[in-house]
Amino acid sequence: MVINMKIVVINGINHKGNTYTLTHKLLDKLDGEVNEFFLPKDFDEFCLGCAKCIFKGESNCPHYEKIKPLVDALVESDLIILDSPVYCMHATGSMFSFLDHLGYMWMAHRPNETMFKKQAVVLTTCAGAGKKRVLKDMNDSLFYLGVPKVYKIGVAMMAPSLDEMKPKKIKKLDKKINKISKKIVKKNGKVKPKFKTKAFFNIMRLMQKNGYNELDKNYWNDLGWTKKKRPWKK
Ligand SMILES: Cc1cc2nc3c(=O)[nH]c(=O)nc-3n(C[C@H](O)[C@H](O)[C@H](O)COP(=O)(O)O)c2cc1C
Repeated sequence: MVINMKIVVINGINHKGNTYTLTHKLLDKLDGEVNEFFLPKDFDEFCLGCAKCIFKGESNCPHYEKIKPLVDALVESDLIILDSPVYCMHATGSMFSFLDHLGYMWMAHRPNETMFKKQAVVLTTCAGAGKKRVLKDMNDSLFYLGVPKVYKIGVAMMAPSLDEMKPKKIKKLDKKINKISKKIVKKNGKVKPKFKTKAFFNIMRLMQKNGYNELDKNYWNDLGWTKKKRPWKK
C-alpha cells in the first residue's frame, strides 16, 4: 500500500449516485490522501471564451479564484480521478465546463510539468449506451494536459443501479477495479510518457519555436523545453 499517494477526485455530478459509488469502489482499494470535488457545487462557471487565460495568463480568467483550489489540487496530486455519468450520450455539462477552463494548460499552450508524471482514472456509468464517448471525452483532456497513464472504467449497468446488476457483471467489475488499483499502487511515481505523448509534445515544441503567443513561447523557452529539457526528465 502507498500511504503518501495524493488523490484528487473531480465528480462530474453533485449527487452520490452510481458514478460516485463506482469511484468509491476504486478509492476503497487505494490508500492515500483524498481531495474530492463535486461539480457544479465546487465549480459552477461556464467558460466565457475571453481567452484571457491563454493570451494574458490564467490569473486573468474571470473565474480564476473559483477554479484555483481545483487546479492546485490537480497539480499537487499523484493520481487524478475524473468521473461523470452518461447523460444524453455525453459527459455532464458541469464536467465539460470544468475541462474547458483547463485549456491553457494543454500541451498546445502551457502544460504543467507535474502532469507528465501522474496517473489518472476516468470512470463512468450508464444505463446502456454512451460510456465509450464519455470516457474518451475525459481521457482526451488528460492526454492533452500531458498525463501519461489513464485507466478507464466504464459500466453499462443494464439495471437501475450498480448493486442491481447481474452477479456475474458485479464480479467482473470488482475484478477489474482490483486489477487497476494494484497497477496504480505499483506504478505510483514511476510513470513516464509513451511515444504518443512525446510525439505530440515534440510537435508543440516545434510550434512554440515560431509561436504567435508570447506568453506560451516564453513559458516553453524559460523551462528549456524548446532546447534539451523535457518535463518528464529530472
Ligand atoms: C438526464 C439523464 C440522461 C441520461 N442519458 C443516458 C444515456 O444517454 N445513455 C445511457 O445509457 N444512460 C443514460 N442515463 C442513465 C444514467 O447514465 C445512469 O443511470 C447512470 O448510472 C447515472 O449515474 P449517476 O447515478 O451517477 O447520476 C441518463 C440519465 C439521466 C438522468
